Amino acid sequence: MKNQRSKFSLPLASAYINCAYMSPLMKKVERAGLEGMRKKRNPFAISHHDFFSESVLLRREFAKLINAPDSQRVAIIPSASYGLSTAARNIKIGKGDSIVLIHEQFPSNVYPWQRLAAETGATISMVKPPDLFEHRGKAWNTRLLESIVPGTKIVAMGNVHWADGTRFELEAVGKRAREVGAKLVIDGTQSVGALPFDIAKVKPDVLVCAGYKWLMGPYSIGLAYFSEDFDEGIPLEENWINRLVSEDFTGLVQYKANYQPGALRYEVGEHSNFILVPMMLEALRQVNQWGPENIQSYCHSITEKGIEKLRKAGCWVEDSAFRGHHLFGIRFPSGSSLDKIKDRVSKKKISVSFRGDSMRVSPHVYNTMAEFNRLVSAITESI
Ligand SMILES: Cc1ncc(COP(=O)(O)O)c(C=O)c1O
Repeated sequence: MKNQRSKFSLPLASAYINCAYMSPLMKKVERAGLEGMRKKRNPFAISHHDFFSESVLLRREFAKLINAPDSQRVAIIPSASYGLSTAARNIKIGKGDSIVLIHEQFPSNVYPWQRLAAETGATISMVKPPDLFEHRGKAWNTRLLESIVPGTKIVAMGNVHWADGTRFELEAVGKRAREVGAKLVIDGTQSVGALPFDIAKVKPDVLVCAGYKWLMGPYSIGLAYFSEDFDEGIPLEENWINRLVSEDFTGLVQYKANYQPGALRYEVGEHSNFILVPMMLEALRQVNQWGPENIQSYCHSITEKGIEKLRKAGCWVEDSAFRGHHLFGIRFPSGSSLDKIKDRVSKKKISVSFRGDSMRVSPHVYNTMAEFNRLVSAITESI
């Protein structure tokens, strides 16, 4: 794949290697948002049909990305926490059962389980990484599989760790979860869109993604997949559009007991959002066109040599097989000053994130090898 910078409005002088924080908006996604905003100048232009038509297209585009055969398994949500709280509300668990999470997981995928545990008497077990850095990712995966035991009822985690990109082997986790009768809930916010994800292979019960990072969408819209097991569940809120035949605006007060099919009962109120939905749709079309596999290869191609340099200079980066190429952590040799590194990075107009004592780097197809090399120099000059 060629560099895709021209599709974005990023300033040339600065290097934005921070998609895990939030993606920059593509020009065409911005245009779709402006068009959506303009539409409401004159509501005459918004028909009843418009409340449904683009949502259908959006669900289909996401289903295509994750290889879900039925787009009615997809729900439009406002945030990852909304989808994860929906999942937590609809999984039966009792006293003494356990919920397996990953150490220092993102809070939106921890608080719903803490609440569920507090309400039911279930326990939470957080799987820690090993202390040693050699083959850390592999050993962490082994620990994770060993932690899923009879009595585990929920495994809730990401495909990669949000802070340092450690990759978890979800097919193996899914298999182990099914063996012990646990539900698998995946927060795909830091991976889906940039890392291939296949519903048919992982077979998760729930997959939740905020849209503003690797799905390249705007803030406050996301997408979730719910398996058939959730078809009779209770949504977080009750709204008119999620009920059966809501398409018939004349019959809305013939209140319906039943919901729209599949996962549609879990959609947020006003999910037809005439600004955010067209933006998210445009973004996902482009992501599908690029293809997550190609995004991985592109990120690999611009970072591979620089990472070798960093390792030679004494930095630590996870083995390639156990991290994302789109998201990885860099740890510095002991004695390095984090403040000095931060200062150098910022002087060179590079945007990355710092999480704990490591740097989180998250490139995308708008970055170049020269930008990554600039970051490598900023680090090697200051450690
Ligand atoms: C792994 C992960 N999940 C979710 C989110 C966002 O959560 P929410 O949509 O609940 O704000 C983030 C944001 O950084 C994240 O890194």
